[in-house]
Amino acid sequence: MQKPVRIAPSILSADFATLGAEVEAIATSGADWIHIDVMDGHFVPNITIGPAVVKAIRKVTEKPFDVHLMISPVDPYIEDFAESGADIITVHREAGPHIHRTLQFIKSLGKKAGVSLNPSTPASSISHILDIVDLVLVMTVNPGFGGQSFIEGQISKIAEIRQMIDETGRDIDLEVDGGINSETAKQVILAGADALVAGTAVFGGGPEKSGGYAGRIQQLRGE
Ligand code: DX5
Ligand code: ZN
Repeated sequence: MQKPVRIAPSILSADFATLGAEVEAIATSGADWIHIDVMDGHFVPNITIGPAVVKAIRKVTEKPFDVHLMISPVDPYIEDFAESGADIITVHREAGPHIHRTLQFIKSLGKKAGVSLNPSTPASSISHILDIVDLVLVMTVNPGFGGQSFIEGQISKIAEIRQMIDETGRDIDLEVDGGINSETAKQVILAGADALVAGTAVFGGGPEKSGGYAGRIQQLRGE
């Protein structure tokens, strides 16, 4: 069942020079989750942050850390991210051949297990793992960078996965990541998404511009 929308600002678009203050600012401005994009320069063409940074910002808020691992191989690093303070650990369907084992491992560490799909990966590729996942993350850009344009063709995939989730009767979050702004937010919520990642739309321009972080987070919720 589609739940009330949760907003997960992506700290990829934050000012890294004051990262702790940025995380605190979104946490006190209505963010539901803190989305942390981990990239390895191999699975995706960019390198971002590792477990040490996650551990450091864990001190500033108790909001759930939604850790999006865009790395391959991923298994050797899961324990480190779990220990650094991740609450949700999401791995890519495309990151390796043994995704079921990876998801089981995440759950064995007491964390929520998410699976993410690149734009070219079909909904059907996760039909046999929905019995163990806690979250599905549909990429609406090719992963690697913030500030890219929303890929419209992914909307039908969101709707398809909404239906698949509802058929299981399980409590699975349906999150969307990439190019989310107040317009595309409406489209993906209509298609069945109930958690939205937003980097540029929340952090773009810094905390002072156009209503600040609280105003922009509220706008994405569509209320
Ligand atoms: C892309 C990342 C996203 C990104 C979203 O690879 O997974 O989380 O930060 O940024 P925007 O909202 O700017 O598209
Ligand atoms: Zn992400």
